[in-house]
Amino acid sequence: MLNIIICGAPGCGKGTQSDLIVEKYALKHLSTGELLRREIHEKTELGLVAEKYISEGNLVPDQMIIDILIKNVDNETNGKGIILDGFPRTVAQAEALEDLLGKRNKETTMLLDLQVNEEELVNRLLKRGETSGRSDDNLETIKKRLEIYEQKTAPVNGYYKSLNKYVAIDGMGTVEEIFSRISEAIDSKK
Ligand code: AP5
Ligand code: MG
Repeated sequence: MLNIIICGAPGCGKGTQSDLIVEKYALKHLSTGELLRREIHEKTELGLVAEKYISEGNLVPDQMIIDILIKNVDNETNGKGIILDGFPRTVAQAEALEDLLGKRNKETTMLLDLQVNEEELVNRLLKRGETSGRSDDNLETIKKRLEIYEQKTAPVNGYYKSLNKYVAIDGMGTVEEIFSRISEAIDSKK
């Protein structure tokens, strides 16, 4: 079983690479950002709360995300494992995840940290913003998301380094080049 976390700054390619990982390794894709956007689209109570945080570039409160995650991890049934995209985003979320998996006799295989420079991140997100319709793909919110990433999410890397599960991946280049680096990292742990 492979339980892989794909992490990195906004626009680093988590969603793009997750799709390729899902195809090759038959994992279940869990993107907390996608789950939240679905709730917003369906105008649920949770969606209404989440919308304000997301459009301002802030993180949604930990407990709200952890509840969503528990529901979805337990729906994972094919036994191959999961790819977590955009979670954990704080050390508190990482601790909750490890606790949750441990109680189910599972564990995180590795955290892949996709490293992309800031200029490229901003360019990718502004380009996507021309068509995505995402309320957070504008320059002001992108800058805020990058700040929040440095403050709250980057420390998650240290947490997984201490567990010996941290793998840095060069996230610059073509989608295919990056995927081949990721595949190599996954295959070396299988
Ligand atoms: P989330 O949806 O996770 O957004 P994000 O982290 O800001 O990242 P993105 O989805 O924007 O980028 P990505 O890394 O997936 O890159 P992508 O592949 O799309 O979260 C959104 C918000 O939800 C958060 O700000 C927060 O408010 C809330 N939230 C979510 N999870 C949460 C949590 N756990 N706790 C609290 N709050 C949470 O690529 C980006 C673009 O670049 C695309 O257009 C793509 O086509 C292009 N691209 C990809 N790869 C390349 C390449 N190699 N070369 C050129 N272009 C490329
Ligand atoms: Mg994404």
